[in-house]
Amino acid sequence: MSDKLIIFDTTLRDGEQSPGASMTKDEKIRIARQLEKLGVDVIEAGFAAASPGDADAISGVASAIENSTVCSLARASEKDVRAAGEAIKPARSGRIHTFIATSPIHMEKKLRMQPDQVVEAAVKAVKLALEYTDDVEFSAEDAVRSDMDFLLRVFDAVIQAGATTLNVPDTVGYSIPALWGERMKQLIARVPNSHKVIWSTHCHNDLGLAVANSLAAVMNGARQVECTINGLGERAGNASLEEIVMAVKTRRDVFPCDTRIDTTQIVPTSKLVSSITGYPVQPNKAVVGANAFAHESGIHQDGVIKHRQTYEIMRAEDVGWSTNKLTLGKLSGRNAFRTRLQELGIAPDGDEALNEAFTRFKDLADRKREIYDEDLQALVSIGSAAQISEHYRLVSMRAHSETGVLPQAQVCLNVGGQEHSAEMQGGGPVDATFKAIEHIAQSGSELQLYSVNNITSGTDAQGEVTVRLSKGGRVVNGQGADTDIVVASAKAYLNALNRLDAGSQRAHPQV
Ligand code: KIV
Ligand code: ZN
Repeated sequence: MSDKLIIFDTTLRDGEQSPGASMTKDEKIRIARQLEKLGVDVIEAGFAAASPGDADAISGVASAIENSTVCSLARASEKDVRAAGEAIKPARSGRIHTFIATSPIHMEKKLRMQPDQVVEAAVKAVKLALEYTDDVEFSAEDAVRSDMDFLLRVFDAVIQAGATTLNVPDTVGYSIPALWGERMKQLIARVPNSHKVIWSTHCHNDLGLAVANSLAAVMNGARQVECTINGLGERAGNASLEEIVMAVKTRRDVFPCDTRIDTTQIVPTSKLVSSITGYPVQPNKAVVGANAFAHESGIHQDGVIKHRQTYEIMRAEDVGWSTNKLTLGKLSGRNAFRTRLQELGIAPDGDEALNEAFTRFKDLADRKREIYDEDLQALVSIGSAAQISEHYRLVSMRAHSETGVLPQAQVCLNVGGQEHSAEMQGGGPVDATFKAIEHIAQSGSELQLYSVNNITSGTDAQGEVTVRLSKGGRVVNGQGADTDIVVASAKAYLNALNRLDAGSQRAHPQV
């Protein structure tokens, strides 16, 4: 059995299925480039049949990436497989990932297909996919609740049809490690010619066991893990890439395999995905949470000072934590700015984008004496998020808080080229600001989530705000960053409105 563990990242597909996490083509390309730098083997860039925009984004990723395989998801239907095949054509190495549900509940209630028809559709999809690429993955959706004998039959049939990777998904996050490991072991032992394919696992986190289940599958022969950055994904998310990779690396004594991930790129990738999707990382999240390497109790601090390994099993620098490095200040010039962005791997494309980022940097440096790498990351990511569409633009604003007086906000917006102002009261300055924006925009959208994170420590730190809006079934996340959190909130709200304005409807693969 191979000692190489293939890392299949599905942040741009399953991760994108999180509410409001949908990404533009440019955002996907930026994340894909970072995933390539991280060293992932396969990038699942999307679901081509969802919409022409999704197909175009996959092709964009396929053209931009050289060292990772680029993959598109496809249901087991001719239309989907052809859309996936066309989308991955520009890839140096392209994969089609086709799937169909195999559990009784999905076949009967969702697909309304007989088991024989499911096998036939799976085989046909694999054969058609092989007309586009010789790298074809097949997934038995809801394998966790599928009958073992039926799974053996489907997997046998798709191996004969030419599939090269067989994926076993716990679509609903129902399994537990001992059972999931056993299922993988049984499949590999009982499917004819199982040694000719790579066995893969894809686990959801509904019971908080996605990583544990994936690792159990690896211990029982799986040599591909499907995962996402920060565990982003449908419902409670997918297995988190950083936890899988660091578990395998840290416990080489237990896992008989290794990945080709450059672990020092983990934290920068996590930050990029978080700021593009608007999904903050919880502080106590393993590996990439802000507290993952912070020792609070005196006994622990004392131990770490005396000998780091008393309380640390990994080194912060090995996963890419820079120690809040002071980088630039008010007097730094364009060259120093560009060089630091290049070192961080976040330099924007083209002179115009760089000039805009430099203007934002100067503006920030006027208000914040010390600029850290984290500030630059937010500046570039959120700056590019703001460029989604400029239908709504903040011209100026003023918010007033005073004890005993209702908070008030005055906002002036540029809406499609024309300036409009409004003044509203609210429960707090942020509430008043959002009311004033809504008064002008009349978007009719509903606020679903509002969250503030500080980018670095200290009271002069930038606040990074996420606003989630929904309207007519569409959900979007907007971000804004500023040293003034009321201004950051207004920027985030406008960013979300612009995303609502720009977006189009797309199909969901599993509906
Ligand atoms: O969770 C799942 O079953 C999936 C498949 C499409 C692989 O995402
Ligand atoms: Zn999934």
